Amino acid sequence: MSNRLNATPNDMRAFWMPFTANRQFKKEPRLFVSAKDMYYTTHDGRTVLDGTAGLWCVNAGHCRPKITEAIRQQAGELDYAPAFQLGHPKAFELANRIIDIAPEGMSHVLYTNSGSESVETALKVALAYHRVKGDGSRFRLIGRERGYHGVNFGGVSVGGIVGNRKMFGTLLTGVDHLPHTHLPAKNAFTRGQPEHGGDLANELERIIALHDASTIAAVIIEPVAGSTGVLIPPKGYLQRIRELCTKHGILLIFDEVITGFGRLGTPFAAQYFDVKPDIITTAKGLTNGVIPMGAVLVTSEIHDAFMHGPEHMIEFFHGYTYSGNPIASAAGLATLETYKDEGLLTRGAELASYWEDALHSLKDCPHVIDIRNIGLIGAIELEPIAGEPTKRAFSAFLKAYEKGLLIRTTGDIIALSPPLIIEKAQIDELFTKLREVLQNNI
Ligand SMILES: Cc1ncc(COP(=O)(O)O)c(C=O)c1O
Repeated sequence: MSNRLNATPNDMRAFWMPFTANRQFKKEPRLFVSAKDMYYTTHDGRTVLDGTAGLWCVNAGHCRPKITEAIRQQAGELDYAPAFQLGHPKAFELANRIIDIAPEGMSHVLYTNSGSESVETALKVALAYHRVKGDGSRFRLIGRERGYHGVNFGGVSVGGIVGNRKMFGTLLTGVDHLPHTHLPAKNAFTRGQPEHGGDLANELERIIALHDASTIAAVIIEPVAGSTGVLIPPKGYLQRIRELCTKHGILLIFDEVITGFGRLGTPFAAQYFDVKPDIITTAKGLTNGVIPMGAVLVTSEIHDAFMHGPEHMIEFFHGYTYSGNPIASAAGLATLETYKDEGLLTRGAELASYWEDALHSLKDCPHVIDIRNIGLIGAIELEPIAGEPTKRAFSAFLKAYEKGLLIRTTGDIIALSPPLIIEKAQIDELFTKLREVLQNNI
């Protein structure tokens, strides 16, 4: 009994919130109680424009009828089916629909429940692939500084955000990192892909020279890095990474947890940049953020390498109780239908230049030291307050929330990624509110 908090109704103490300043939050809570399309409603009855698609996931906007209804129906028809040695039709159907929109060459889908699990799954597939091909000395994984690949041990190991790494010991061994590509002195205020930094891809050659290609299983990168504060790949960078991976027999994993499902105006970033990875990780937009689900896409070359040995044997020892869960599958199918019905996977391309102009119009606001954008993604980097990093952006976040606008901040960077249903008038509303915030003594 002594551990009990003697909770009263509305008591907030028991929930240790993720990636949150818990003490600040619990003094001044910010709760959403409902949402529709582009707007949330707060517990104190205010409307908040969603400038971030929740956490980069609600790509079709909130409480979309088709998705809500599919979940309702599925919950009453088949709530759960074991995922191992058994199945249900919708998991197969959804995998087919994902492959329909995936970059050419992707042929098979493994399900997960989150972006973090997709990353773990992808890394394990890569290691096992080399091993089943008789190339088991390829055990190293190469990530990138400032990369974010979720919060599990593999993802944190290949990730490159120090705050996410420093508390957790030695992490995975056999991991190395490419340098990040953030070069503000040369690229600040670039619209779209920066001119400078493409040659940083050649650092992979240095890493290969150090470890030898025969020890390297895979390179994992976000085509557009999101959580670190939006880093857009310099021109030629992704192409060069692809060339080097191909040359040295290294698998290339694109972590498309935020770029998948239309964020850049194409279904996947691989299509936008015209670079073909061997494995793609997804989550978030797959079910419009409504039900936890992720998917890892692989080529037939990878899949087929496992399909040997006696047919009664399990080919890959990996999976989750909820892999392809019926309700998540129904949500995924309804989400992909909604994207298709409304042309949302390419809508970002139509809105990108309007979005870019509106975003860059904030260049003259106080403390703005860089603005960057691609597709329906935008970032505004603020000059940190001396000795108090992150405080200026957090203060902007709080003021925006008060003004009825949801933004996301990481370090002193504001990241924007609205639902793909956003209208031009709402883009105007977003940037008008943000200008007021930035001009208001943050
Ligand atoms: C690129 C990338 N990978 C992985 C993840 C982790 O996803 P999740 O929070 O669903 O575990 C994220 C989350 O933002 C992400 O941006």
